[in-house]
Amino acid sequence: MEVNNGVTFVLLGGTGDLARKKLLPSLYNLYKKGKLGEFDIIGTSRHDLSREEYVRHVGVNIDKHETWDEFKENIRFAQLNFYNPEDYEVLQEKLLGCGDERLFYLATLPQHFDVINDNLSSHDLVNETSKVLYEKPFGDDLKSAKELNRSINELFPEKNIYRIDHYLDKELVANLSILRFSNSIIDPILSAEYVDHVQIIASENFGVEERGGFYDRYGAVKDFFQSHLLQLLSLVGMSTPEKLDSRCIRDEKVRALRGVDILDTITGQYEGYRGEEGVDEDSTTETLTAVRAALNRPRWQGVPFYLLTGKNLAKKYSQIYVQFDKNNQSSMSSNGTIPNSLVVSIQPDRGIYFVINTKVPGGIGTEPAKMEFCHTCHHGPNTPSAYENLFSQALAGDQRSFIRYDEIEEQWRIVDGMEIPEPITYEPGEVPEEVQNFIQDGEWHGLS
Ligand SMILES: NC(=O)c1ccc[n+]([C@@H]2O[C@H](COP(=O)([O-])OP(=O)(O)OC[C@H]3O[C@@H](n4cnc5c(N)ncnc54)[C@H](OP(=O)(O)O)[C@@H]3O)[C@@H](O)[C@H]2O)c1
Repeated sequence: MEVNNGVTFVLLGGTGDLARKKLLPSLYNLYKKGKLGEFDIIGTSRHDLSREEYVRHVGVNIDKHETWDEFKENIRFAQLNFYNPEDYEVLQEKLLGCGDERLFYLATLPQHFDVINDNLSSHDLVNETSKVLYEKPFGDDLKSAKELNRSINELFPEKNIYRIDHYLDKELVANLSILRFSNSIIDPILSAEYVDHVQIIASENFGVEERGGFYDRYGAVKDFFQSHLLQLLSLVGMSTPEKLDSRCIRDEKVRALRGVDILDTITGQYEGYRGEEGVDEDSTTETLTAVRAALNRPRWQGVPFYLLTGKNLAKKYSQIYVQFDKNNQSSMSSNGTIPNSLVVSIQPDRGIYFVINTKVPGGIGTEPAKMEFCHTCHHGPNTPSAYENLFSQALAGDQRSFIRYDEIEEQWRIVDGMEIPEPITYEPGEVPEEVQNFIQDGEWHGLS
């Protein structure tokens, strides 16, 4: 048989919100940048759609240029119910004329993963060069994540498996390892010797929108905290890896996660949440959580890590804030100096800056100043989206920004061990007082 060297993206869950808003637009952007080469896209759904109907459905959110007509020629559709083995035979046929390298993207809920895996395997759809990408959440708890890992690993080798946390593909998050390990002056100061505390924040200024049904099953702890916040914590807390390759980086992240000890947790639920579509009217699901954690590694002894995520707060932003000056009671502090800090701003502003104390011109007082790398000013606003990066990394076979089986298990181990208190109610757009006062002798950076 003739070998077709192109790549085929199979979007299982090809009509969903994620496929329409993120996956197809990202693939189109990569195409416009000439980064896709020969390719086909096959989207699937239970509905009986014609190719044209499918293209119209997924094209709604795309900012179309003159290249759209060319691009859309490569989009195909296969009607497929995850639970009907015969439907995978139809997919098999569709794949025959397409590129040999296959990238299966499971853009659907984890309860379908097992049956999809079994069918992909029993129909021999996954070959040596295939990649199977799993959207988050990967499991509901440690037990289900372990079972999922076990069943996947029985069918496909780990080198074919890409567990997604799209935060890892955000430009500034991907920059963290470079910041730490390619700048010899930075990494040594990220330790208990210099750091007073660390904050990791992912705050949103909107509610659950149309994803109430999904969210109500998970909540802030299992959704954002379990995934994005713990991944960011592992990237800040990990020790220097032997090499900057995917094995060594992930080994160190796992070690960091093993050292995480949750010391205190509060949760909140925004007023009106119980009236959202898909949400139980008596729901006690938390839409906010603030956590104080310790990292039991010699490097971080005694340094608190404060993590916060919430919906319907005052602002939408994500950042890592490191406050230095452990012993800020020095004589200088009475002169009005502030503690030095390092901020990695992930979104919406992208950049890295230090805050230092400088002399007021013509006087003897001090004032804070920023030493800043403004990513947006330097590289423009149109840097690749997280999902573009994710596709590029997967195509390159680079698993650095995907999660290994043991990372995900450590993340669930931490969450399973947490005591989640009853949520306090807060007004949308406001930060509850308990959250504002959560940091001992300090405040959340940029929250209000
Ligand atoms: N939406 C986002 O922005 C976002 C962001 C991060 C992560 N995620 C994750 O991505 C996954 C998908 O999210 P989503 O928002 O796109 O969900 P969604 O809008 O509910 O879409 C689910 C997709 O799965 C398909 N599907 C469901 N049951 C099926 C079955 N039995 N057989 C075949 N197809 C079936 C649906 O197709 P039909 O109904 O047409 O058959 C649809 O294409 C979730 O795990 C979510 O947590 C989503």
